[in-house]
Amino acid sequence: MKGSIPEDKIEEVRRRTDIVSLIGEYVTLKKAGKNFLGLCPFHREKTPSFTVSPDKQMFYCFGCSEGGNVFSFLMKLNHLTFPEAIRHLAGKVGVVIPERSMSPEEKDRYTLGEQIRRVNGLAAEYFVRALQSPAGEGAREYLRKRGIEAEAISTFRIGLAPEGWRHLLDFLDKKGIPPKLVEQAGLAILRAGEGERGHYDRFRGRLMIPIEDVDGHVIAFGGRVMGAGEPKYMNSPESPVYTKGNNLFGLSRTREAIRQAGFSLLVEGYFDLIALWGAGIQNVVATLGTALTRAQVDLLRRYAPRVVAVFDPDEAGRKALARSLELFLAGNVHAKAVILPDGHDPDDFVRTRGREKTEELVARAVPMVDYYIEEILGGRGTLEEDRDKLREAVAFIARIEDAVERNLFIKKVAEKLNFDQEVLKAEVRRVLSHATASQVEPTRRKSVREPDHLELGLIHMMLECPERIPAVAMSGVMACFTTEELRSLGERLLTAAGKEGGAIPDGFSLVNGLEEGPVRAKLLDLLMSESPYQEEWMDRLFADTLRKIQRKWYKERHRMLKAQIVKADEAGNRELCDGLLREKERLLQEEKGLA
Ligand code: GTP
Ligand code: MN
Repeated sequence: MKGSIPEDKIEEVRRRTDIVSLIGEYVTLKKAGKNFLGLCPFHREKTPSFTVSPDKQMFYCFGCSEGGNVFSFLMKLNHLTFPEAIRHLAGKVGVVIPERSMSPEEKDRYTLGEQIRRVNGLAAEYFVRALQSPAGEGAREYLRKRGIEAEAISTFRIGLAPEGWRHLLDFLDKKGIPPKLVEQAGLAILRAGEGERGHYDRFRGRLMIPIEDVDGHVIAFGGRVMGAGEPKYMNSPESPVYTKGNNLFGLSRTREAIRQAGFSLLVEGYFDLIALWGAGIQNVVATLGTALTRAQVDLLRRYAPRVVAVFDPDEAGRKALARSLELFLAGNVHAKAVILPDGHDPDDFVRTRGREKTEELVARAVPMVDYYIEEILGGRGTLEEDRDKLREAVAFIARIEDAVERNLFIKKVAEKLNFDQEVLKAEVRRVLSHATASQVEPTRRKSVREPDHLELGLIHMMLECPERIPAVAMSGVMACFTTEELRSLGERLLTAAGKEGGAIPDGFSLVNGLEEGPVRAKLLDLLMSESPYQEEWMDRLFADTLRKIQRKWYKERHRMLKAQIVKADEAGNRELCDGLLREKERLLQEEKGLA
């Protein structure tokens, strides 16, 4: 796959992309010295250890040792292949990847995901135009009645799927898109038992709301009926680019506002979000009607560490709150809850009461933990229910992963509900011991040997100052390396630098590709810190390191020889003993020759 994009284009894309602004789109970063710091998107953390270096155009997390360049970041974060990451960035920075000579087979190299996103994008354009056409008058009237203004309509690319069975299919057909692909994108359905002509449009006579990923690619649609009719919403099925629980509606349009506000306002419906946005409250995201997931909490945390979630006051709302609270606690997200007056959703609340009243409501949101304990656990009075409350509290607490959070929660529950703290603790411990016995932690294979620090230092110098690599080659020091991984890495550097043209290897990629373990972690640490090598010391340091590694090797050889000599002597093996002594002499001479 890699071969389909010319190397020089890859280089150009890399050169034109700034890693700080790229990662800044997904992670809120703050300047810290020469580098930028944020909460790692690859593991859950409370204090930032995710580092981005503008000088090196690399990122590295000191918490989970994930690291790499712009391409590896996108690949890991958005689950892209290498060519997908390149093409994505190329599009952003305006590098044109030549396509003119692409054969049909080469075109197939676009992954199914990319093809589906493209089809969805074209479909969105089509729906937008249909809404603005004369046939869209009814739909426009519907939107007017709901108070959705032109700006919101164009920002969220709201469109219309006209009545009829093949409008979209025909439109896409003219663009050369086969019905099969439209089907794979979830926009067409195949009538059972029929061939290519058996496809028909999935969405007919519905208002179309594109669901975008954080980069603004259309990955699915929600289609709403405009009058009576079932179902109220029809959504695209899941596809290679769309997993419901991994996305949040609106985020691509609201992430900047979320960052600025420092929190996101979490609602349930498309129209809740669109109405709030239209009223000027723009730091909003919506869950698409399904229960909140871990992946969504992780996504939210990237943009702001706080969430204010809106819930209904009914039983379903309480359940949703309890479940969301667990996820927020596990995800290190500080969550508050807003409970709307009965019968209201955010959409009609903001429309009838206005922006200010809505903002007041949000400002009065209470920490979800307190709300849960007081209103949900504590809220149902009678003494007979105490046992139930205790049981529910214990089950809930046992699901809190973080031990510190768990203890805080125990304390709060005990205080607020007048339970004995020790009893509560013991109960939780009992439940936890059952749980852990049944789930065995998966262990990852890791190389565990600590690398030799001198060898590590030399490799680091080779990476930082590639112009030293030829001198390393001349010295033959690689043969003295005792840390296998470092030796093979060093040798790869030598080979790469020794090639005609002597392209300097991208050391970071080399290191990043190493197996997880102390060698990789230490090298990445070194690479991310400021270069300690000052020009005036460099010659000395370099020569010293070479010499020390060699000395160390000779010392080790001498130690081994000595042991062998003693053994041969004890066994009375004169011949072997002499041979070993000669070897010792040779080693001594060789070592002298070095100095
Ligand atoms: P309006 O009723 O037009 O105000 O829409 P809404 O966006 O406010 O929706 P509502 O609050 O009724 O539901 C919240 C979310 O649940 C919606 O935005 C949809 O994502 C989802 N949803 C609601 N009804 C349906 C349905 O019938 N089918 C599916 N698949 N999803 C639905
Ligand atoms: Mn609604």
